[in-house]
Amino acid sequence: MKHFLFLTFFIYCLSVNAQKQIYTDFYPGKLWFDTEGDIINAHGGGILYYEGTYYWFGEHKGEFSNAALVGVTCYSSKDLYNWTFERIVLPVSDDPNSPIVRGSVIERPKVIYNKKTDTFVMYFHLELKGEGYNAAHVGMAISKQAAGPYTLVRNSRVNAGKWPANLKEEQKKENPDDAWMLKKGWTPEWLKAVEDGLFVRHHFKEGQMSRDMTLYVDDDDKAYHIYASEDNATIQIAELTDDYQNYTGKYIRIFPATHNEAPTIFKKDGTYWMITSGCTGWKPNEARMFSAPSIWGPWIQHSNPCQGKDAELTFHTQGTYILPVHGQKNMFIFMADRWCPDNPIDGRYVWLPVLFENGIPVLKWVNKWHITE
Ligand code: DGJ
Repeated sequence: MKHFLFLTFFIYCLSVNAQKQIYTDFYPGKLWFDTEGDIINAHGGGILYYEGTYYWFGEHKGEFSNAALVGVTCYSSKDLYNWTFERIVLPVSDDPNSPIVRGSVIERPKVIYNKKTDTFVMYFHLELKGEGYNAAHVGMAISKQAAGPYTLVRNSRVNAGKWPANLKEEQKKENPDDAWMLKKGWTPEWLKAVEDGLFVRHHFKEGQMSRDMTLYVDDDDKAYHIYASEDNATIQIAELTDDYQNYTGKYIRIFPATHNEAPTIFKKDGTYWMITSGCTGWKPNEARMFSAPSIWGPWIQHSNPCQGKDAELTFHTQGTYILPVHGQKNMFIFMADRWCPDNPIDGRYVWLPVLFENGIPVLKWVNKWHITE
């Protein structure tokens, strides 16, 4: 029996590996193999376009754990369908004192290119080993080559000692109710207190929490870090310095105390569109959509961008990035993960075209599609 099971497992491994094929379409939710025939392992990913090549950075996941046991992966492609494994661009460390020691949590890496310094800058969500999701740090690493390797520069909370630009003066003052309110999670008064800046004040000195995140580079080359803060209750948008390696200190909170994760963003015809998820761990939920005429707002909420069967579960996925297709003015790809927490490596990629109906972004399920002019 033991031999039979081993043989079955061996045949399974052979069948899911080594499937070399040339793709001319996207197949949302299906296994996706790289140019060597190995399954693409780049979860919670993001894409950088640089000098004619797309680079896909993502979390390497194993079979039994969501912790970082290998590091951040990088694949390259000229056509977005066929991906070549480049390398582990940010490997976990074996030094127990390293913040990215094997067993820490490294999620949602994103890379942007800084023209001024000719440097590639990676930001990612980092949780310190053994601390669950309590550290809520952002990690930053740099490289002189798109495909790395990247060197960790720092990890920290965000904008220590700075107030959000849209917090009122009276909300910055110490509030005697804060201490006990912090312990009162998820009651209506607590949500009201969070909306009123409870966590912003509490984390003022050490910096704001940062979990799910993305990066956005605007047409004027200014870049922004957009992240789930305040214990995932509030999205914050923080401006980066000209070299993209630090914060200018300017940041805002949007939709406080409404629990958004997985921020993704793009701009079309001068309007910024953000698609997020709710907060239900690895389980899918209904996507939310917002828009604004400026990155600093005012942001307004729209209805769920998804339409059709399973629209209320974002087609069983959670967004990770919205990719503008190079050379095509109005072509954007919503990249999402279909998480598989019991066997994380089997998490699937769901890439869908962003459609527009009366100028409003819409997502619809398709089994197979490709980019058309
Ligand atoms: C949902 C987040 O979007 C994921 O990146 C991950 O942090 C899980 N929660 C952990 O439960």
